[in-house]
Amino acid sequence: MNSRMLHDVIYMLLISTVAKEVKTAEPDTPPCEYNSNHRKSILTDLLQDYDKTMVPSNNSVQVSVELTVQDISSISEISSSFIADVWFSQVWEDPRLEYRNISCKTNLSLDSYVSERLWTPNVCFVNSKSTQVHKSPASNILLIIYPNGTVWLNYRVQVSAPCSFELSRFPIDAQECHLVFESYSYNIAEVRLNWQQWAPVTMPPPEDFRLPDFQFYNVTWGKTSNEYTAGMWDQLKVTFRFKRLYGYYVLQMYLPTYLSVFISWIAFWIDTRALPARITLGVSSLMALTFQFGNIVKNLPRVSFVKAIDLWFFVCVAFIFFSLVELAVVGFVDKITEIKRRSRRIKFQRAIAGGTIKNDRPMSFRKYSCTSKCNSVRYNINNNDDEELYNISGETNGNGISWKNNSSREASADMGARVDSFAAKAFPAMFAAFNVFYWWYYLSRERN
Ligand SMILES: *[C@@H]1O[C@H](CO)[C@@H](O)[C@H](O)[C@H]1NC(C)=O
Ligand SMILES: *[C@@H]1O[C@H](CO)[C@@H](O)[C@H](O)[C@H]1NC(C)=O
Ligand SMILES: *[C@@H]1O[C@H](CO)[C@@H](O)[C@H](O)[C@H]1NC(C)=O
Ligand SMILES: *[C@@H]1O[C@H](CO)[C@@H](O)[C@H](O)[C@H]1NC(C)=O
Ligand SMILES: *[C@@H]1O[C@H](CO)[C@@H](O)[C@H](O)[C@H]1NC(C)=O
Repeated sequence: MNSRMLHDVIYMLLISTVAKEVKTAEPDTPPCEYNSNHRKSILTDLLQDYDKTMVPSNNSVQVSVELTVQDISSISEISSSFIADVWFSQVWEDPRLEYRNISCKTNLSLDSYVSERLWTPNVCFVNSKSTQVHKSPASNILLIIYPNGTVWLNYRVQVSAPCSFELSRFPIDAQECHLVFESYSYNIAEVRLNWQQWAPVTMPPPEDFRLPDFQFYNVTWGKTSNEYTAGMWDQLKVTFRFKRLYGYYVLQMYLPTYLSVFISWIAFWIDTRALPARITLGVSSLMALTFQFGNIVKNLPRVSFVKAIDLWFFVCVAFIFFSLVELAVVGFVDKITEIKRRSRRIKFQRAIAGGTIKNDRPMSFRKYSCTSKCNSVRYNINNNDDEELYNISGETNGNGISWKNNSSREASADMGARVDSFAAKAFPAMFAAFNVFYWWYYLSRERN
Protein backbone atom coordinates (compact mmCIF):
# COMPACT_ATOMS: atom_id res chain seq x y z
CA MET A 1 0.00 0.00 0.00
CA ASN A 2 2.78 2.38 1.00
CA SER A 3 4.85 1.48 -1.92
CA ARG A 4 1.88 2.08 -4.14
CA MET A 5 1.37 5.60 -2.70
CA LEU A 6 5.04 6.31 -3.12
CA HIS A 7 4.81 5.19 -6.70
CA ASP A 8 1.87 7.58 -7.25
CA VAL A 9 3.69 10.49 -5.67
CA ILE A 10 6.76 9.87 -7.81
CA TYR A 11 4.58 9.59 -10.86
CA MET A 12 2.82 12.92 -10.15
CA LEU A 13 6.14 14.60 -9.47
CA LEU A 14 7.49 13.33 -12.75
CA ILE A 15 4.46 14.60 -14.63
CA SER A 16 4.66 18.02 -13.02
CA THR A 17 8.39 18.39 -13.84
CA VAL A 18 7.82 17.31 -17.40
CA ALA A 19 4.97 19.79 -17.69
CA LYS A 20 7.20 22.50 -16.28
CA GLU A 21 9.89 21.69 -18.82
CA VAL A 22 7.38 21.88 -21.66
CA LYS A 23 6.20 25.24 -20.37
CA THR A 24 9.70 26.65 -20.15
CA ALA A 25 10.47 25.36 -23.69
CA GLU A 26 7.65 27.51 -25.14
CA PRO A 27 8.82 30.79 -26.83
CA ASP A 28 8.25 33.88 -24.74
CA THR A 29 6.30 35.64 -27.50
CA PRO A 30 2.74 36.57 -26.57
CA PRO A 31 0.03 34.18 -27.70
CA CYS A 32 -1.58 34.99 -31.01
CA GLU A 33 -5.07 36.32 -30.67
CA TYR A 34 -6.74 37.33 -33.88
CA ASN A 35 -9.38 39.67 -32.60
CA SER A 36 -10.12 43.24 -33.49
CA ASN A 37 -9.27 44.54 -30.04
CA HIS A 38 -5.82 43.15 -30.35
CA ARG A 39 -5.38 44.72 -33.74
CA LYS A 40 -6.53 48.08 -32.45
CA SER A 41 -4.09 47.85 -29.64
CA ILE A 42 -1.24 47.19 -32.07
CA LEU A 43 -2.02 50.40 -33.94
CA THR A 44 -2.49 52.49 -30.86
CA ASP A 45 0.75 51.10 -29.45
CA LEU A 46 2.60 51.83 -32.67
CA LEU A 47 1.23 55.32 -33.19
CA GLN A 48 1.38 56.32 -29.53
CA ASP A 49 4.41 58.54 -29.79
CA TYR A 50 4.80 58.50 -33.52
CA ASP A 51 5.98 61.75 -35.07
CA LYS A 52 5.07 61.76 -38.74
CA THR A 53 7.37 64.68 -39.48
CA MET A 54 10.42 62.61 -38.54
CA VAL A 55 12.23 60.71 -41.24
CA PRO A 56 12.41 57.05 -40.12
CA SER A 57 16.14 56.68 -40.58
CA ASN A 58 19.15 58.85 -39.85
CA ASN A 59 20.62 57.89 -43.21
CA SER A 60 18.52 58.30 -46.33
CA VAL A 61 15.51 56.02 -46.51
CA GLN A 62 15.63 53.49 -49.31
CA VAL A 63 12.32 53.59 -51.15
CA SER A 64 11.59 51.08 -53.86
CA VAL A 65 8.98 51.95 -56.42
CA GLU A 66 6.88 49.56 -58.42
CA LEU A 67 4.45 50.32 -61.19
CA THR A 68 1.75 48.08 -62.64
CA VAL A 69 -0.16 49.40 -65.59
CA GLN A 70 -3.81 48.49 -65.56
CA ASP A 71 -4.78 50.14 -68.82
CA ILE A 72 -3.71 52.89 -71.15
CA SER A 73 -6.94 54.35 -72.33
CA SER A 74 -6.04 57.12 -74.73
CA ILE A 75 -3.17 58.74 -76.55
CA SER A 76 -3.88 62.15 -77.99
CA GLU A 77 -1.78 63.96 -80.56
CA ILE A 78 -3.62 67.21 -80.06
CA SER A 79 -2.83 67.49 -76.35
CA SER A 80 0.34 65.42 -76.77
CA SER A 81 -0.49 63.25 -73.78
CA PHE A 82 -1.70 59.85 -72.71
CA ILE A 83 -4.00 58.67 -69.95
CA ALA A 84 -3.15 55.58 -67.96
CA ASP A 85 -4.64 53.78 -64.99
CA VAL A 86 -1.82 52.45 -62.87
CA TRP A 87 -1.15 50.81 -59.55
CA PHE A 88 1.82 52.47 -58.07
CA SER A 89 3.62 51.26 -54.94
CA GLN A 90 6.21 52.72 -52.64
CA VAL A 91 7.95 50.38 -50.23
CA TRP A 92 10.19 51.54 -47.40
CA GLU A 93 11.19 50.60 -43.89
CA ASP A 94 10.12 52.44 -40.81
CA PRO A 95 11.71 50.84 -37.70
CA ARG A 96 9.25 52.70 -35.49
CA LEU A 97 6.46 50.55 -36.91
CA GLU A 98 8.00 47.18 -36.04
CA TYR A 99 5.53 44.96 -34.19
CA ARG A 100 7.40 41.67 -34.20
CA ASN A 101 7.49 41.60 -30.41
CA ILE A 102 3.96 42.87 -29.90
CA SER A 103 1.96 40.59 -32.14
CA CYS A 104 2.35 37.48 -34.21
CA LYS A 105 0.34 38.83 -37.13
CA THR A 106 2.21 38.55 -40.42
CA ASN A 107 0.86 41.78 -41.79
CA LEU A 108 -1.45 44.67 -41.09
CA SER A 109 -3.65 45.82 -43.97
CA LEU A 110 -4.87 49.33 -43.43
CA ASP A 111 -6.62 52.03 -45.37
CA SER A 112 -6.00 55.58 -46.44
CA TYR A 113 -6.98 57.06 -43.09
CA VAL A 114 -3.94 55.48 -41.41
CA SER A 115 -1.64 56.43 -44.25
CA GLU A 116 -2.26 60.07 -43.44
CA ARG A 117 -0.90 59.55 -39.95
CA LEU A 118 2.36 57.95 -41.11
CA TRP A 119 5.49 59.42 -42.57
CA THR A 120 5.54 58.78 -46.32
CA PRO A 121 8.31 59.47 -48.82
CA ASN A 122 5.87 61.46 -50.96
CA VAL A 123 6.80 59.92 -54.26
CA CYS A 124 4.82 61.51 -57.05
CA PHE A 125 4.50 61.79 -60.81
CA VAL A 126 6.42 64.98 -61.44
CA ASN A 127 5.59 65.18 -65.13
CA SER A 128 1.88 64.49 -64.93
CA LYS A 129 -0.69 66.91 -66.27
CA SER A 130 -3.30 65.61 -63.90
CA THR A 131 -3.41 62.76 -61.44
CA GLN A 132 -6.24 61.49 -59.36
CA VAL A 133 -6.53 58.62 -56.96
CA HIS A 134 -9.49 56.51 -57.98
CA LYS A 135 -12.42 56.76 -55.63
CA SER A 136 -14.69 53.81 -56.00
CA PRO A 137 -16.25 54.90 -53.64
CA ALA A 138 -13.42 55.41 -51.16
CA SER A 139 -9.87 56.28 -52.10
CA ASN A 140 -8.08 53.31 -53.63
CA ILE A 141 -5.15 53.32 -51.26
CA LEU A 142 -3.66 50.19 -49.78
CA LEU A 143 -1.33 50.26 -46.81
CA ILE A 144 0.35 47.15 -45.48
CA ILE A 145 2.74 47.13 -42.55
CA TYR A 146 4.87 44.02 -42.05
CA PRO A 147 6.14 42.89 -38.64
CA ASN A 148 9.69 43.95 -39.52
CA GLY A 149 8.59 47.55 -40.12
CA THR A 150 8.37 47.39 -43.90
CA VAL A 151 5.61 49.67 -45.15
CA TRP A 152 3.96 49.11 -48.48
CA LEU A 153 1.83 51.97 -49.75
CA ASN A 154 -0.10 51.43 -52.95
CA TYR A 155 -2.31 53.79 -54.93
CA ARG A 156 -4.58 53.21 -57.87
CA VAL A 157 -4.41 56.40 -59.86
CA GLN A 158 -5.39 57.76 -63.21
CA VAL A 159 -2.52 59.78 -64.55
CA SER A 160 -2.33 61.94 -67.61
CA ALA A 161 1.24 62.52 -68.69
CA PRO A 162 2.98 63.87 -71.75
CA CYS A 163 4.17 62.03 -74.81
CA SER A 164 6.98 63.33 -76.95
CA PHE A 165 5.22 63.28 -80.26
CA GLU A 166 7.52 63.09 -83.21
CA LEU A 167 5.20 63.43 -86.17
CA SER A 168 7.63 63.76 -89.07
CA ARG A 169 6.86 60.17 -90.06
CA PHE A 170 3.14 60.39 -89.41
CA PRO A 171 1.18 58.14 -89.91
CA ILE A 172 3.88 55.47 -90.08
CA ASP A 173 5.36 56.54 -86.79
CA ALA A 174 6.09 55.36 -83.26
CA GLN A 175 5.64 57.47 -80.16
CA GLU A 176 7.14 57.57 -76.70
CA CYS A 177 5.30 58.44 -73.53
CA HIS A 178 6.93 59.04 -70.18
CA LEU A 179 6.15 58.80 -66.52
CA VAL A 180 8.65 60.39 -64.16
CA PHE A 181 8.78 59.73 -60.41
CA GLU A 182 10.45 61.83 -57.81
CA SER A 183 10.06 62.23 -54.12
CA TYR A 184 8.46 65.61 -54.05
CA SER A 185 9.49 66.60 -50.52
CA TYR A 186 12.80 64.88 -49.84
CA ASN A 187 16.09 65.10 -51.64
CA ILE A 188 18.66 62.32 -51.69
CA ALA A 189 19.86 63.18 -48.17
CA GLU A 190 16.55 61.82 -46.89
CA VAL A 191 15.09 59.59 -49.58
CA ARG A 192 16.77 57.43 -52.20
CA LEU A 193 14.48 56.09 -54.90
CA ASN A 194 15.05 52.79 -56.62
CA TRP A 195 13.09 50.51 -58.82
CA GLN A 196 11.93 47.36 -57.14
CA GLN A 197 14.38 44.50 -57.60
CA TRP A 198 11.92 42.17 -59.30
CA ALA A 199 9.40 43.26 -61.96
CA PRO A 200 9.57 47.02 -61.44
CA VAL A 201 7.17 47.71 -64.28
CA THR A 202 4.39 45.31 -65.20
CA MET A 203 2.29 45.73 -68.29
CA PRO A 204 -1.04 44.05 -68.97
CA PRO A 205 -1.10 41.51 -71.78
CA PRO A 206 -1.10 43.32 -75.15
CA GLU A 207 -4.59 42.10 -76.04
CA ASP A 208 -5.96 43.94 -72.99
CA PHE A 209 -5.05 47.32 -74.42
CA ARG A 210 -7.99 48.86 -76.13
CA LEU A 211 -6.22 51.68 -77.90
CA PRO A 212 -7.86 52.19 -81.27
CA ASP A 213 -4.90 53.48 -83.23
CA PHE A 214 -1.79 52.52 -81.30
CA GLN A 215 -0.10 49.30 -80.44
CA PHE A 216 2.09 49.05 -77.36
CA TYR A 217 5.41 47.40 -78.14
CA ASN A 218 8.10 48.27 -75.63
CA VAL A 219 8.66 49.65 -72.15
CA THR A 220 11.95 50.66 -70.57
CA TRP A 221 12.81 52.19 -67.21
CA GLY A 222 15.79 53.91 -65.75
CA LYS A 223 17.11 56.02 -62.94
CA THR A 224 18.94 59.33 -62.94
CA SER A 225 19.89 61.90 -60.36
CA ASN A 226 18.96 65.47 -61.10
CA GLU A 227 20.37 68.56 -59.55
CA TYR A 228 17.96 71.30 -58.61
CA THR A 229 18.55 74.48 -56.67
CA ALA A 230 17.27 72.73 -53.54
CA GLY A 231 19.65 69.76 -53.89
CA MET A 232 19.90 66.45 -55.67
CA TRP A 233 16.83 64.37 -56.37
CA ASP A 234 16.59 60.79 -57.52
CA GLN A 235 14.44 60.45 -60.58
CA LEU A 236 12.86 57.30 -61.94
CA LYS A 237 11.61 57.35 -65.46
CA VAL A 238 9.56 54.82 -67.38
CA THR A 239 9.10 55.11 -71.12
CA PHE A 240 6.27 53.44 -73.00
CA ARG A 241 6.59 53.02 -76.74
CA PHE A 242 3.68 52.74 -79.11
CA LYS A 243 3.48 52.01 -82.77
CA ARG A 244 0.71 53.63 -84.73
CA LEU A 245 -1.72 51.30 -86.43
CA TYR A 246 -1.83 53.05 -89.78
CA GLY A 247 -4.51 50.83 -91.31
CA TYR A 248 -7.02 53.59 -90.71
CA TYR A 249 -4.92 56.03 -92.70
CA VAL A 250 -4.39 53.52 -95.49
CA LEU A 251 -8.15 53.16 -95.79
CA GLN A 252 -9.06 56.79 -95.25
CA MET A 253 -6.21 58.58 -96.97
CA TYR A 254 -3.94 56.46 -99.12
CA LEU A 255 -6.49 54.37 -101.00
CA PRO A 256 -8.77 57.31 -101.90
CA THR A 257 -5.80 59.38 -103.06
CA TYR A 258 -4.67 56.51 -105.24
CA LEU A 259 -8.10 56.57 -106.83
CA SER A 260 -8.00 60.36 -107.25
CA VAL A 261 -4.66 60.19 -108.99
CA PHE A 262 -5.76 57.30 -111.19
CA ILE A 263 -8.92 59.15 -112.14
CA SER A 264 -6.89 62.17 -113.22
CA TRP A 265 -5.05 59.90 -115.66
CA ILE A 266 -8.23 58.83 -117.41
CA ALA A 267 -8.04 62.21 -119.17
CA PHE A 268 -5.04 60.95 -121.16
CA TRP A 269 -7.25 58.43 -122.92
CA ILE A 270 -10.04 60.84 -123.68
CA ASP A 271 -10.13 62.57 -127.07
CA THR A 272 -7.95 65.68 -127.09
CA ARG A 273 -10.88 67.80 -128.20
CA ALA A 274 -13.06 66.83 -125.22
CA LEU A 275 -11.54 69.53 -123.10
CA PRO A 276 -14.43 70.08 -120.65
CA ALA A 277 -14.57 66.40 -119.77
CA ARG A 278 -10.84 66.27 -119.22
CA ILE A 279 -10.74 69.39 -117.09
CA THR A 280 -13.62 68.09 -114.98
CA LEU A 281 -11.71 64.89 -114.27
CA GLY A 282 -8.58 66.73 -113.17
CA VAL A 283 -10.29 69.36 -111.09
CA SER A 284 -12.71 67.00 -109.37
CA SER A 285 -9.94 64.63 -108.37
CA LEU A 286 -8.00 67.59 -107.00
CA MET A 287 -11.03 68.63 -104.94
CA ALA A 288 -11.57 65.09 -103.65
CA LEU A 289 -7.93 64.88 -102.60
CA THR A 290 -8.01 68.19 -100.76
CA PHE A 291 -11.16 67.17 -98.95
CA GLN A 292 -9.72 63.84 -97.80
CA PHE A 293 -6.53 65.46 -96.68
CA GLY A 294 -8.37 68.16 -94.75
CA ASN A 295 -10.33 65.48 -92.89
CA ILE A 296 -7.16 63.74 -91.76
CA VAL A 297 -5.18 66.84 -90.89
CA LYS A 298 -7.82 68.52 -88.75
CA ASN A 299 -7.18 65.93 -86.03
CA LEU A 300 -3.47 66.66 -85.86
CA PRO A 301 -1.53 69.39 -84.11
CA ARG A 302 -0.35 72.22 -86.33
CA VAL A 303 3.29 71.40 -86.75
CA SER A 304 5.56 73.39 -89.01
CA PHE A 305 7.50 70.56 -90.56
CA VAL A 306 6.60 68.17 -93.36
CA LYS A 307 5.00 64.95 -92.23
CA ALA A 308 4.99 61.76 -94.26
CA ILE A 309 1.33 62.30 -95.02
CA ASP A 310 2.04 65.89 -96.16
CA LEU A 311 4.68 64.63 -98.56
CA TRP A 312 2.20 62.13 -99.89
CA PHE A 313 -0.44 64.80 -100.30
CA PHE A 314 1.88 67.28 -102.02
CA VAL A 315 3.13 64.71 -104.48
CA CYS A 316 -0.38 63.51 -105.30
CA VAL A 317 -1.54 67.10 -105.81
CA ALA A 318 1.52 67.66 -108.00
CA PHE A 319 0.60 64.62 -110.11
CA ILE A 320 -2.93 65.85 -110.59
CA PHE A 321 -1.71 69.39 -111.21
CA PHE A 322 0.71 68.22 -113.89
CA SER A 323 -2.01 66.17 -115.50
CA LEU A 324 -3.90 69.46 -115.82
CA VAL A 325 -0.75 71.12 -117.18
CA GLU A 326 -0.47 68.30 -119.67
CA LEU A 327 -4.00 69.11 -120.70
CA ALA A 328 -2.99 72.70 -121.30
CA VAL A 329 -0.01 71.55 -123.33
CA VAL A 330 -2.20 69.32 -125.45
CA GLY A 331 -4.65 72.16 -125.97
CA PHE A 332 -1.83 74.51 -126.89
CA VAL A 333 -0.22 72.11 -129.33
CA ASP A 334 -3.57 71.50 -130.95
CA LYS A 335 -4.17 75.19 -131.21
CA ILE A 336 -0.79 75.84 -132.85
CA THR A 337 -1.45 73.07 -135.32
CA GLU A 338 -4.87 74.45 -136.04
CA ILE A 339 -3.45 77.93 -136.65
CA LYS A 340 -0.84 76.56 -138.99
CA ARG A 341 -3.40 74.52 -140.80
CA ARG A 342 -5.67 77.49 -141.16
CA SER A 343 -2.92 79.73 -142.47
CA ARG A 344 -2.09 77.06 -145.03
CA ARG A 345 -5.69 76.88 -146.06
CA ILE A 346 -5.80 80.60 -146.55
CA LYS A 347 -2.66 80.48 -148.63
CA PHE A 348 -4.07 77.63 -150.63
CA GLN A 349 -7.34 79.44 -151.01
CA ARG A 350 -5.56 82.49 -152.28
CA ALA A 351 -3.50 80.43 -154.64
CA ILE A 352 -6.61 78.82 -156.03
CA ALA A 353 -8.29 82.15 -156.26
CA GLY A 354 -5.34 83.25 -158.31
CA GLY A 355 -6.11 80.36 -160.66
CA THR A 356 -2.51 79.32 -160.99
CA ILE A 357 -2.71 75.79 -159.73
CA LYS A 358 -0.81 73.24 -161.60
CA ASN A 359 -2.26 70.09 -162.88
CA ASP A 360 -0.15 67.77 -160.74
CA ARG A 361 -2.39 68.08 -157.69
CA PRO A 362 -3.98 64.97 -156.26
CA MET A 363 -6.87 63.28 -157.88
CA SER A 364 -9.27 64.23 -155.14
CA PHE A 365 -8.79 67.84 -155.88
CA ARG A 366 -9.47 67.60 -159.52
CA LYS A 367 -13.16 67.76 -159.21
CA TYR A 368 -12.79 70.95 -157.28
CA SER A 369 -10.55 72.63 -159.74
CA CYS A 370 -11.82 76.07 -159.85
CA THR A 371 -12.50 78.03 -162.83
CA SER A 372 -12.82 81.71 -162.55
CA LYS A 373 -15.01 82.06 -159.43
CA CYS A 374 -13.85 79.94 -156.62
CA ASN A 375 -14.37 81.72 -153.38
CA SER A 376 -15.24 78.92 -151.08
CA VAL A 377 -12.80 76.15 -151.40
CA ARG A 378 -13.07 73.18 -149.06
CA TYR A 379 -9.88 71.48 -148.18
CA ASN A 380 -10.87 68.38 -146.41
CA ILE A 381 -13.04 67.35 -149.20
CA ASN A 382 -12.74 63.65 -149.45
CA ASN A 383 -15.22 61.95 -147.19
CA ASN A 384 -15.17 64.77 -144.67
CA ASP A 385 -12.10 63.40 -143.01
CA ASP A 386 -10.59 65.93 -140.70
CA GLU A 387 -7.31 64.20 -140.47
CA GLU A 388 -6.68 64.19 -144.18
CA LEU A 389 -4.32 67.04 -144.71
CA TYR A 390 -2.96 68.62 -147.72
CA ASN A 391 0.17 70.44 -147.62
CA ILE A 392 1.34 73.35 -149.57
CA SER A 393 4.93 72.48 -150.01
CA GLY A 394 6.92 75.15 -151.58
CA GLU A 395 6.06 78.77 -151.82
CA THR A 396 3.77 80.23 -154.32
CA ASN A 397 6.80 80.71 -156.43
CA GLY A 398 5.96 82.26 -159.68
CA ASN A 399 3.16 80.59 -161.39
CA GLY A 400 2.05 77.66 -159.27
CA ILE A 401 1.85 75.57 -156.14
CA SER A 402 2.99 72.01 -156.04
CA TRP A 403 0.68 69.69 -154.10
CA LYS A 404 1.74 66.74 -152.05
CA ASN A 405 -0.07 64.60 -149.62
CA ASN A 406 2.60 64.85 -146.95
CA SER A 407 2.45 62.18 -144.29
CA SER A 408 4.99 63.74 -141.93
CA ARG A 409 2.89 66.82 -141.66
CA GLU A 410 -0.14 64.73 -140.97
CA ALA A 411 1.57 63.51 -137.83
CA SER A 412 2.09 67.03 -136.59
CA ALA A 413 -1.63 67.41 -136.24
CA ASP A 414 -1.57 64.43 -133.94
CA MET A 415 0.92 66.14 -131.71
CA GLY A 416 -1.64 66.41 -128.92
CA ALA A 417 -2.45 62.72 -129.12
CA ARG A 418 1.26 61.95 -129.01
CA VAL A 419 1.70 64.08 -125.89
CA ASP A 420 -1.24 62.20 -124.41
CA SER A 421 0.15 58.80 -125.15
CA PHE A 422 3.51 59.83 -123.75
CA ALA A 423 1.87 61.16 -120.58
CA ALA A 424 -0.21 58.01 -120.27
CA LYS A 425 3.04 56.08 -119.90
CA ALA A 426 5.19 58.64 -118.07
CA PHE A 427 2.74 59.56 -115.31
CA PRO A 428 2.06 56.01 -114.08
CA ALA A 429 5.76 55.18 -114.34
CA MET A 430 6.76 58.19 -112.26
CA PHE A 431 3.99 57.58 -109.75
CA ALA A 432 5.09 53.97 -109.38
CA ALA A 433 8.67 55.11 -108.85
CA PHE A 434 7.54 57.61 -106.21
CA ASN A 435 5.51 54.91 -104.47
CA VAL A 436 8.44 52.54 -104.33
CA PHE A 437 10.65 55.24 -102.86
CA TYR A 438 8.03 56.52 -100.44
CA TRP A 439 6.99 53.17 -98.97
CA TRP A 440 10.52 51.86 -98.91
CA TYR A 441 11.74 54.96 -97.03
CA TYR A 442 9.02 55.01 -94.39
CA LEU A 443 8.40 51.32 -93.94
CA SER A 444 12.10 50.44 -93.68
CA ARG A 445 12.57 53.04 -90.96
CA GLU A 446 9.46 51.84 -89.18
CA ARG A 447 10.98 48.42 -88.62
CA ASN A 448 14.01 49.87 -86.77
C1 LIG B 1 19.50 58.89 -35.12
O1 LIG B 1 20.27 59.90 -34.49
C2 LIG B 1 19.81 60.25 -33.19
C3 LIG B 1 20.64 61.38 -32.66
O2 LIG B 1 21.80 61.55 -33.37
C4 LIG B 1 19.91 59.01 -32.29
O3 LIG B 1 19.41 59.31 -31.02
C5 LIG B 1 19.07 57.89 -32.92
O4 LIG B 1 19.22 56.70 -32.17
C6 LIG B 1 19.52 57.60 -34.31
N1 LIG B 1 18.62 56.63 -34.89
C7 LIG B 1 19.02 55.62 -35.64
C8 LIG B 1 17.96 54.72 -36.15
O5 LIG B 1 20.21 55.43 -35.86
C1 LIG C 1 12.12 42.07 -30.21
O1 LIG C 1 12.56 40.92 -29.51
C2 LIG C 1 13.89 40.55 -29.83
C3 LIG C 1 14.20 39.31 -29.05
O2 LIG C 1 13.17 38.42 -29.09
C4 LIG C 1 14.85 41.67 -29.51
O3 LIG C 1 16.16 41.31 -29.91
C5 LIG C 1 14.44 42.93 -30.24
O4 LIG C 1 15.27 44.01 -29.90
C6 LIG C 1 13.01 43.27 -29.91
N1 LIG C 1 12.61 44.39 -30.71
C7 LIG C 1 11.92 45.40 -30.25
C8 LIG C 1 11.57 46.47 -31.24
O5 LIG C 1 11.58 45.45 -29.13
C1 LIG D 1 -1.16 38.74 -44.45
O1 LIG D 1 -1.46 37.90 -43.36
C2 LIG D 1 -2.39 36.86 -43.63
C3 LIG D 1 -2.61 36.08 -42.35
O2 LIG D 1 -2.59 36.91 -41.28
C4 LIG D 1 -1.81 35.98 -44.71
O3 LIG D 1 -2.77 34.98 -45.07
C5 LIG D 1 -1.50 36.82 -45.95
O4 LIG D 1 -0.90 36.01 -46.95
C6 LIG D 1 -0.59 37.93 -45.58
N1 LIG D 1 -0.38 38.77 -46.72
C7 LIG D 1 0.82 39.16 -47.15
C8 LIG D 1 0.83 40.05 -48.34
O5 LIG D 1 1.84 38.84 -46.56
C1 LIG E 1 10.28 42.54 -44.05
O1 LIG E 1 9.20 41.68 -44.36
C2 LIG E 1 8.78 41.69 -45.71
C3 LIG E 1 7.58 40.79 -45.85
O2 LIG E 1 7.74 39.60 -45.18
C4 LIG E 1 9.96 41.24 -46.57
O3 LIG E 1 9.55 41.29 -47.94
C5 LIG E 1 11.14 42.15 -46.35
O4 LIG E 1 12.25 41.71 -47.08
C6 LIG E 1 11.49 42.21 -44.90
N1 LIG E 1 12.53 43.19 -44.67
C7 LIG E 1 13.67 42.92 -44.05
C8 LIG E 1 14.64 44.02 -43.91
O5 LIG E 1 13.88 41.81 -43.58
C1 LIG F 1 12.89 48.59 -76.15
O1 LIG F 1 13.46 49.71 -76.81
C2 LIG F 1 14.78 50.00 -76.40
C3 LIG F 1 15.22 51.28 -77.08
O2 LIG F 1 14.69 51.39 -78.33
C4 LIG F 1 15.68 48.83 -76.73
O3 LIG F 1 16.98 49.09 -76.29
C5 LIG F 1 15.16 47.59 -76.04
O4 LIG F 1 15.92 46.46 -76.42
C6 LIG F 1 13.70 47.35 -76.41
N1 LIG F 1 13.20 46.25 -75.62
C7 LIG F 1 12.45 45.30 -76.14
C8 LIG F 1 11.99 44.26 -75.20
O5 LIG F 1 12.16 45.29 -77.30
